[in-house]
Amino acid sequence: MTEGVQTSPAFTPRVFSGIQPSGGLTLGNYLGALKRFADTQNKGIESIYCMVDLHAITVWQDPAKLAHATRELCAGFIASGIDPEKSILFNQSQVPEHAQLAWIFNCVARMGWMKRMTQWKDKAGKNQENASLGLFAYPALMAADILLYHATHVPVGEDQKQHLELTRDIAIKFNNDFGVEFFPVTEPVIEGAATRVMSLRDGSKKMSKSDPSDMSRINLTDDADAIATKIRKAKTDPEALPSEVDGLEGRPEARNLVNIYAALSDQTVEQVLADVGGKQFSEFKPMLSELAVTKMTPISTEMARLMQHQDEIDAILRRGSERAREIASPILAKTYEIVGMVR
Ligand code: TYM
Repeated sequence: MTEGVQTSPAFTPRVFSGIQPSGGLTLGNYLGALKRFADTQNKGIESIYCMVDLHAITVWQDPAKLAHATRELCAGFIASGIDPEKSILFNQSQVPEHAQLAWIFNCVARMGWMKRMTQWKDKAGKNQENASLGLFAYPALMAADILLYHATHVPVGEDQKQHLELTRDIAIKFNNDFGVEFFPVTEPVIEGAATRVMSLRDGSKKMSKSDPSDMSRINLTDDADAIATKIRKAKTDPEALPSEVDGLEGRPEARNLVNIYAALSDQTVEQVLADVGGKQFSEFKPMLSELAVTKMTPISTEMARLMQHQDEIDAILRRGSERAREIASPILAKTYEIVGMVR
């Protein structure tokens, strides 16, 4: 993972990533983020994972649902194999340094940079005047999340790439403006077969919790029957599967199902195709369905079990926030000093 790292050797490798508790985790979140977090943790690198509740409220969230989604997300992290003893798990609002550093970065980032963000354009839609100011400033808060811990590596799905480039721009501009080498230039880690899991109904659209069709996604809370039905009904084409990756060209739905199979079975796409090349979807879909059920149902069962013990989840988040603050607070204090805030 450290190949090609451009960060200064002064920065110890540290992983940070975040997920919004905006209701419902999908197979995209699992393969693009959670599963990879667990793999990273098991390599022994210090890792910090955040439920970004301050980001979630950039669009309206019902308060009771936000609280439920935050706990459920924490349960999702743990059920996916993230050990709260090894990694730090916490919710963003409980470490006020995130909002404090974000304000500094609001003053470093330029309006033009923010306006170019595709997520801003997509989420604000045609009615930008009516979008929240928080939605516009969203990427500066994300940069604060990462840089508050001097994180060097950020594992994310493909859709976060532009935000991570902006994080690098903010770090570079801050360092230049103040003549310091204080913030690392963070490396995005976008690796593996499933950094962009697509909708099961339309291979050109990302699998997303906000898609109106529940058949378009596998939820982490789906049971075996729901998973099997969704895979059986997933859109495909009439051709047999190819034996080589080139043969997936122009076949987005086939590519997506093969990518999902590869990521779930910890294989490369090449390895999967060497095995299943020549098979019809009528044969491949049951294989995928069995694999997905085997891998995913223990996670949903464990999430449901953990949700019976909300006090324990809250205690894990509280303890995580304390540990996160121990790292964040000296970095914020140093930032204030660099900027010239008297204390
Ligand atoms: P969010 O909450 O939309 O998604 C969380 C993670 O899941 C990945 N992901 C996917 N990966 C593959 N295929 C998909 N269909 C798919 N859908 C989602 C996302 O890429 C992400 O890694 N802005 C971030 C949250 C954030 C953050 C951060 C991330 C806030 N601060 C600091 C990293 C570092 C977001 O909205 O992710």
